[in-house]
Amino acid sequence: MKLFIDSGDIGEIREAVAMGAIDGVTTNPTLLAKAGKPTRKAIAEICEAIDGPVSAEVLATTYEAILEEGRALSRIHPNVVVKVPLVVDGLKAVRTLSREHVRTNVTLCFSPTQALLAAKAGATYVSPFIGRLDDLAHEGMELIEQLVNIWNNYDFVTEILVASVRHPVHVVQAALLGAHAATVPFEVIPRLLRHPLTDIGLARFLQDAQDIPQE
Ligand code: E4P
Repeated sequence: MKLFIDSGDIGEIREAVAMGAIDGVTTNPTLLAKAGKPTRKAIAEICEAIDGPVSAEVLATTYEAILEEGRALSRIHPNVVVKVPLVVDGLKAVRTLSREHVRTNVTLCFSPTQALLAAKAGATYVSPFIGRLDDLAHEGMELIEQLVNIWNNYDFVTEILVASVRHPVHVVQAALLGAHAATVPFEVIPRLLRHPLTDIGLARFLQDAQDIPQE
């Protein structure tokens, strides 16, 4: 499973890339607003920091405007994947962009029928938001299970990119189900790594090493 970082913060992205953990980046307007830089500058900087897909979201919501903004984003850097909302004009734009060989990530997916339409339109990725479903007392991971089952029946090229991940169990479940990718906030990454037995074991090894005779 590919692991992406869901962040607009160049410091976080560089740190995650240095750990060797990360295959790509997803951003959204909320994350870029937090980062506090103009979008083009932020996306260009992120693309230089990682050799992998970097999702940059359009703000437009009508077909022509999404196309124009999407094409402009894709010209920033070859790593850019144009993130498009799951609305009718978004799907139309995804269809056109995919014919122009511009990669797309269809975002704000909350149902299997929405995901199917994204795949039919030729999206490179579809992003089901599991944490936001959990927030409404729906089991977000059930959506991923449904999508993986549907995908197993067909030959869609669209990758299932598990988004709105909140904690390590989401990552484990996504991997067990065979999702193609998951995008995780920076603060989840150390929690994927940390285990008290690793820390205790390391402390004991270093302590015991004091008794190794010196040459
Ligand atoms: C995905 O591409 C989105 O940026 C993200 O995962 C949204 O997550 P949130 O629900 O934590 O905002």
